[in-house]
Amino acid sequence: MEKFRSSGWFGKKDKDGIIYRSWMKNEGMPPDMFDGRPVIGICNTFSEFTPCNAHFRTHAESVKRGVLEAGGFPLEFPIMSLGETLLKPTAMLFRNLASMDAEESIRGNPIDGVVLLTGCDKTTPSTVMGAASVGLPTIVVPGGPMLNGKYKGTDIGSGTHVWKFDEDMKTGRMTVEDCEFAESCMSRSIGHCMTMGTASTMACMVEALGLTLSGAAAIPAADSRKKVMAQLSGRRIVDMVKENLTIDKILTKEAFENAIKVNAAVGGSSNFLIHLMAIAGRIGIDLKLEDFDRLGSNIPLLLNLMPSGKYLMEDFYYAGGLPVILNELKDHLHKNVITATGKNHHENITGKCDCYNADVIASIDKPFIEHAGCVVVKGNLAENGAVIKPSAATPALMKHRGRAVVFESIEDYHARIDDDNLDIDAGCVMVLKYVGPVGYPGMPEVGNMALPKKILQQGITDMVRISDGRMSGTAYGTVVLHVSPESAIGGNLALVQNGDMIELDVEQRRLHLDVSDEELAERKRKWSPPAPAATRGYVNLYVNHVQQADKGADLDFLVGNSGSEVTRDSH
Ligand code: FES
Ligand code: MG
Repeated sequence: MEKFRSSGWFGKKDKDGIIYRSWMKNEGMPPDMFDGRPVIGICNTFSEFTPCNAHFRTHAESVKRGVLEAGGFPLEFPIMSLGETLLKPTAMLFRNLASMDAEESIRGNPIDGVVLLTGCDKTTPSTVMGAASVGLPTIVVPGGPMLNGKYKGTDIGSGTHVWKFDEDMKTGRMTVEDCEFAESCMSRSIGHCMTMGTASTMACMVEALGLTLSGAAAIPAADSRKKVMAQLSGRRIVDMVKENLTIDKILTKEAFENAIKVNAAVGGSSNFLIHLMAIAGRIGIDLKLEDFDRLGSNIPLLLNLMPSGKYLMEDFYYAGGLPVILNELKDHLHKNVITATGKNHHENITGKCDCYNADVIASIDKPFIEHAGCVVVKGNLAENGAVIKPSAATPALMKHRGRAVVFESIEDYHARIDDDNLDIDAGCVMVLKYVGPVGYPGMPEVGNMALPKKILQQGITDMVRISDGRMSGTAYGTVVLHVSPESAIGGNLALVQNGDMIELDVEQRRLHLDVSDEELAERKRKWSPPAPAATRGYVNLYVNHVQQADKGADLDFLVGNSGSEVTRDSH
């Protein structure tokens, strides 16, 4: 039999070999499990604090069944699980920490190939980043979205409807009791957010990159075919090990470019940019913020899902799922890629990409929107760029000049936003400072700040908003995000004052603060940075090493990879 990496543990004939095998046998492993067969690590992001991933124990069992069927030796291990809804101050703060956990767990253990069980937003990028920094054969099993939310006869979407309900409560259209009832209507099954939020975006991303079996992304968590997909992925990873189909062979420049185009076509989250750049950094692919605009902004929107459209992930699956999108985009996508199946997308989807509902997935000749991908705007307010998602924005606001209404912190925003004396009208530009990677810390999803009550009561639902934070992939609005450099490190965003005029021109890719360079220099002289968010622990490490959003917000020393080799034994 061919020698795999794990033979450096289990294949040893000396004292170390005894140590490596004997303790494993206390788990009830028969001796032939150590005969040199591929050892498959199942990286489980299960946690009851991560509701989107709380069903992963059953997926892990399905994967194990598949691994055993194919003659492999499955071993499941936990890593830090990041839940979007509970973790304070943000799950994003810990994405890089979880990636370190994944990387070191994979490298340090006798693993020949790895299955990543991912679901909630950050659990996909963190594990893929970690796996990319090791470089073993890797397959992702996306955990699947929840079933459609059902509330009083209408479909409601995770996140997207939370923002709507919040507005409706403020304007008196909805009672607190209605809202509490809607909570259980929204989250009525296992799975992650079923809008095209960041979790669904990440599932589409890994399928587009080629890291999953074909069609994996859209299958609802509660659908029995999700378990089948998990089992088949378990079978497949054993062969990937035998074929030495390592993650770097899948994650090529072409694969990243395909993913950018697919993200535009599905109306994926703005968080996609940050996560894809961080993954690219780990695998040594040079990806720039501008690449997303260059490759994605001319791709049409083909998927009619909230928040850009009206349907949900369950509908996407029944309409045919991502293979239909890949087929519609076939003239735009690189064919010289290899996916986890060992074939390219085109070969994977042949004969399996009929669209069953044209109202959910449009054809490329009749798209829902002509130009959908995220756009990068630049100017003196964001010298290294900022991001806006046109499919979630109001067309009339894409070229806008307005008076700045500045919030100096998230606390300042909460304290004053519904104050009747706040000097604001619908034409103003809301500016929020100190919500970037360093400033918050961990770049929260507050960029889609709710409008003032008095504006909502006029029936106005959108205004231009600018910050160095992110917004949930489930959110919508004319929101300029990820301003880089961020305010906490002295970006010009920190210097904006109430009454300054700001110009946004999406078509011209421009974000301009109408204040002279001399005046900005003068304001900068008087500016001092905020106190660091922490002086010890991981947060201290994070604020001292995190890169700006335009580079993917990875820690600077994590960029790159270290391979899978570990030369020394522990005893
Ligand atoms: Fe986990 Fe939305 S909160 S995917
Ligand atoms: Mg989210």
